[in-house]
Amino acid sequence: MSNLIDILDLSVEEIDGLIATANDIIENPGKYAKACEGKILATLFFEPSTRTRLSFEAAMLNLGGSVLGFSEAGSSSTAKGESVADTIRTVNCYADIIAMRHPKEGAPIVAAKASRIPIINAGDGGHFHPTQTLTDLLTISRHKGRLNNLTIGLCGDLKFGRTVHSLIAAFSRYSGIKFVLISPEELCVPEYVKTETLDKKGIPYKEVRTIEEAIPELDILYMTRIQRERFADPAEYERLKNSFVLDLPKLEHAKSDLCIMHPLPRVNEISTKVDNDPRACYFDQMLCGKFIRMALILKLLAETPMLLSASGAECSCNEHGEELVNKVFCDNPRCITSIEQEIDHVFRYTDKENGICRCAYCEAQKKI
Ligand code: NCD
Repeated sequence: MSNLIDILDLSVEEIDGLIATANDIIENPGKYAKACEGKILATLFFEPSTRTRLSFEAAMLNLGGSVLGFSEAGSSSTAKGESVADTIRTVNCYADIIAMRHPKEGAPIVAAKASRIPIINAGDGGHFHPTQTLTDLLTISRHKGRLNNLTIGLCGDLKFGRTVHSLIAAFSRYSGIKFVLISPEELCVPEYVKTETLDKKGIPYKEVRTIEEAIPELDILYMTRIQRERFADPAEYERLKNSFVLDLPKLEHAKSDLCIMHPLPRVNEISTKVDNDPRACYFDQMLCGKFIRMALILKLLAETPMLLSASGAECSCNEHGEELVNKVFCDNPRCITSIEQEIDHVFRYTDKENGICRCAYCEAQKKI
């Protein structure tokens, strides 16, 4: 069965295939208008969303399918204390495919273990957001004509910005990629992204503190919002919230074919004066989101055999090495294990010699 939990669940060839399908949908929408007739997409959003939820729903409607779901946890039985697994078992009775967003990291892994229909991670806490990355890759390939040989500036909240984590993972498989990480010291990329992806794959990157020093060399400038909802200390958010604002003067030294991106929503990070600059790609980016999600729904439904009963099918996220089950316990307050008592705590070694392992849900590191 197919799920999309982490962008690395898809091979580079599969991503190429999705981009090709999305481009074909853009050219020939009529060809796909009935492709999902009789199928139902459930959108389970335990956290706010405008673009991701609505583009998923528009995608399914444009494929001739139907949608159901909820847009806030408070209107579902989660508010009564229901577990993620039980919510998923319920929705398995009414839908063919699920897109879910949850504030806790690793929640879609728990969902996939309880589901016999595909689970798409539409954002889990500050961890991953693979369908935003597919959107970003489609946008970049359409604007730049390539996904290799790019210098990519990532700016803003690189610690909690899940879109950034998935984007770095995706680009780690293309050649000629350089990253310029632009953030305050407090919001730099998590250590697991540095060690497990950037360092392990030998990807060149540098960390800088201002847009000005980075901008001349960039092919892509990917702005992000400071993620207020992930801060443990509201005062820290207030101090950091206006760290970066992209305005027209800062673009003076940028390349003429720079691609300015943002997953949106923006709070203050991009002046509205930039919107009319031909280098602003963020509104096109949100349109790309619908087409790539259409391609993804088609692919996952086509790959899922009809199962009439039996939940608990193994998911792709289980195909890993040696696991430590309930031997090491995760203490990340943003991990799904922090709110669901029934879930096993699962850690995997990343460096067995030195006793380094990571939580299978949220990637928090422990030394044992
Ligand atoms: C992003 C998200 O939810 O992570 N938005 C989106 O999906 N388009 C970025 C954000 O909320 O800042």
